[in-house]
Amino acid sequence: MSQSFKPLIAPSILAADFSRLGEEVRAVLAAGADWIHFDVMDNHYVPNLSVGPLVLEALRKADIDAFMDVHLMVEPAERLIDDFAAAGANLISIHPESVRHLDRALAQIKEHGIQAGVVLNPATSIEVVDWVMDKLDLILVMSVNPGFGGQAFIPAMLEKLRQLRSRIDANGRPIRLEIDGGIKTNNIAAAAAAGADTFVAGSAIFGSADYAQTIALMREQIATAS
Ligand code: DX5
Ligand code: ZN
Repeated sequence: MSQSFKPLIAPSILAADFSRLGEEVRAVLAAGADWIHFDVMDNHYVPNLSVGPLVLEALRKADIDAFMDVHLMVEPAERLIDDFAAAGANLISIHPESVRHLDRALAQIKEHGIQAGVVLNPATSIEVVDWVMDKLDLILVMSVNPGFGGQAFIPAMLEKLRQLRSRIDANGRPIRLEIDGGIKTNNIAAAAAAGADTFVAGSAIFGSADYAQTIALMREQIATAS
């Protein structure tokens, strides 16, 4: 039987107006966002550079207490885990390719009393999660190659979601299944039907004229899949 988590929508700050980041984060939260997806890029693991723990800390200091879903696209990720935990992350996800020892790095995240996730690139096999399921709160499926917002959804990732959904359900632990990359109002239902319960959307939300309307439409679409 499929686990029934409440579906969550997590706007990616990557598509926000960085000159008004605090305001943008407050706006999507007021518009109904559940989590804030915080994309961290280092121009090494991925060919782009975004923001570090100082920016997360600044949002916390500005009294933003939303759940911060930190997606590390940095190498070596081990070196930044403690800083992001201290800065106020609620969940940190790491790519297996970006750490020397995945099991140890996940334990390092959990030592901070926060949630841990593994991120699978489009070409990464799902077996990498098999022996670390006990440490996972979330599996993130990348439906684009990491590094940039605004890319097109890779349809083959729907099958990957289905296979991971089966593994999570067979395991029985409460592990969220998140999808990230190219999620729009016209494909979010397909991702939900394939088993995703947590939806990252950057350009689809921050690029829209009315954040609340877009998030509401996404929720309606997700509901059609159940
Ligand atoms: C890509 C990032 C995504 C991305 C999503 O490396 O991890 O979170 O910003 O942006 P959209 O929704 O525009 O594809
Ligand atoms: Zn991301």
